[in-house]
Amino acid sequence: MRTETDFIPKSFSKTIESGTFTWSAPSNIALVKYWGKKANQIPANPSVSFTLNTCKTITTLTFQTKANPDSFSFDLLFEGKPKEDFKPKIQKFFERIAVYCPYLKQYHFTIDTRNTFPHSSGIASSASGMAALAMNIMSLEKALNPEMTEDYFNQKASFLARLGSGSACRSVKGKVVVWGNHKGITGSSDLFGVEFPTAIHSNFSNYQDTILLVDKGEKQVSSTVGHDLMHNHPYAEQRFQQAHDNLSKLKTVLENGDLETFIEIVESEALTLHAMMMTSMPYFILMKPNTLEIINAIWKFRKNHNIPVCFTLDAGANVHILYPENVRVQVLQFIQDELVGYCENAQYICDAIGKGSQLMIDN
Ligand code: DP6
Repeated sequence: MRTETDFIPKSFSKTIESGTFTWSAPSNIALVKYWGKKANQIPANPSVSFTLNTCKTITTLTFQTKANPDSFSFDLLFEGKPKEDFKPKIQKFFERIAVYCPYLKQYHFTIDTRNTFPHSSGIASSASGMAALAMNIMSLEKALNPEMTEDYFNQKASFLARLGSGSACRSVKGKVVVWGNHKGITGSSDLFGVEFPTAIHSNFSNYQDTILLVDKGEKQVSSTVGHDLMHNHPYAEQRFQQAHDNLSKLKTVLENGDLETFIEIVESEALTLHAMMMTSMPYFILMKPNTLEIINAIWKFRKNHNIPVCFTLDAGANVHILYPENVRVQVLQFIQDELVGYCENAQYICDAIGKGSQLMIDN
């Protein structure tokens, strides 16, 4: 079992003056939700997600040694233009990972980042954004320490991404990723995400996720505040236990392909997440009227047509519609006919399970 100290490097065999890397990292959608955390970004319960394919952040990291290694130095660009309001988050991330990446202060960085999904779509870019940055930092570390194994590279990238944003640790690898200690899942850890260890049933091959953009506005309550409200929450302990139980059940489902039970667990997790928000003090609601319209329409369609389609929700109003590839045509027709009217500007994004982060440029 790895511990935090395994990620503190001892020495480096190489030096490097300058270079550039580009990594893409995908977004992910949780099936069992992470909601509630302890100190140092340790999750209150284990979670599992599908890694996505199309919704990605692409980040280029350019670095050059500098004279004074006393502080962090970086420029931040979004779509090629300076973006000052992202800087404090990156500064905080660098501070959190400093002990694990002592080389960072030796360089000046330019971080140039963009998303493949529409700007202000209400899709959180923190998971893919932090994962893409962590992958780039690990490429730099690997240049300093070429003996590093691929396993260590991925685990440390996920470990660093977690310190940026919890769910980001599930965006390093594909296709199904578990984060958080769970007694039934070999290798699972609170410190980083791991690929689901056993074979996944073919019913889930190329599983589809169509994201309906219900509300593209800024959320009234951030995830960070929401996680915090799980401290002293009246149902916290039962909820954390339920997540363990649901992950045990989902593990069996991912192996045996039982879509009926899959739907039951996934929809219950989504509604429980929002129930936790509604029963926090202060309480809040992130769903919108159209979120409920969509959920009801999915239930009706599933019952009438006997098609295994279900929904899940993030910490927002948008709805992720999950379904097997073999019913794609029918479900897309249903979305066109009955659901686009509930989307802001009729917008939705078609995605599917993906393979994880990818190195695009290495020099
Ligand atoms: C509802 O990972 O965004 O999407 O760790 O504070 O950055 P921080 O929170 P974040 O929380 C995501 C919560 C969720 C469920 C999930 O992805 O598991």
